Amino acid sequence: TIAFLNGEYMPLSEAKISPMDRGFLFGDGIYEVIPTYSGSAVGFKGHTSRMAQGLKAIEIANPYSAEEWQDILTSLVEKNKAFIESGNIGVYFHVSRGTDTKRFHAYPKNIAPTVFGFAFEIAPPQPTAKSEARPFKVALQQDKRWQRCHIKSTSLLGNVMHYQAGVDAGVNETILYNSEGMITEASSCNVFMVKDGCISTPPLNHELLPGITRAIAIEAFKQAGLVVTETWFSKDELLEADEVWLTSSSKEVAPVVEVDGKPIGTGEVGDVWEKAIKAYHAYKF
Ligand code: PDD
Repeated sequence: TIAFLNGEYMPLSEAKISPMDRGFLFGDGIYEVIPTYSGSAVGFKGHTSRMAQGLKAIEIANPYSAEEWQDILTSLVEKNKAFIESGNIGVYFHVSRGTDTKRFHAYPKNIAPTVFGFAFEIAPPQPTAKSEARPFKVALQQDKRWQRCHIKSTSLLGNVMHYQAGVDAGVNETILYNSEGMITEASSCNVFMVKDGCISTPPLNHELLPGITRAIAIEAFKQAGLVVTETWFSKDELLEADEVWLTSSSKEVAPVVEVDGKPIGTGEVGDVWEKAIKAYHAYKF
């Protein structure tokens, strides 16, 4: 596949950076994953504005305007569509603080950020019939990451360790709760639950990423007349929910049928999910 590195396109295998890059040494950078289906990106504006906010928060000058990021995305999709025949292409953008001559914690002055992009295959859109859905089983853990989870940092070891705990438990995600027992998000997704027909998701704060899929889903559900609120719920309420869903750029709105070994609701994909995924697709495409 073809990658983008510091203004140039090249085979991914030829994209090379220095081990003195602060992204490598410190995880000092910001990233985005943007889904595209048949050439059209989902939530592009949201992704570029979140990236701009993240870069600002860590004092890296945004190397490109939204139009320039759009051009890079379009080029990556165009150059990679021969390699990714399904047309379900995720675009990864990564801006690190850049390469320094020494390893020193403080932000160095006058270094240029390293900008990297590549394309990879993502899952096809979710089927809209619940009988064909791809359900998730998840683990549940106390969030042991940092207190700036709203920043989409490339320092992902905390997320990776939580995700791995799920894999080790034989499932494919880990939902997280804070020290008060309230659900925040999952290691790589946001979380929604349904109780008595009402959909809820935790409100935004420093404990979770403001997911673009989450934002699109909330709008889509409202437009379709579904009841959705941004409210905290506890891990006990999650386990008692009728339905639980995950949202992310690569998963859209995905149903969860088991949390920590316990079935959610009937243990099958729920009826509200079917309405929700239809609403999401109707809004998105
Ligand atoms: N993950 N929360 C966390 C911790 C995430 O890493 C992600 C995205 C989300 C959902 O955000 P969005 O809807 O904007 O994709 C929530 C990406 C896809 C990843 O790390 O691969």
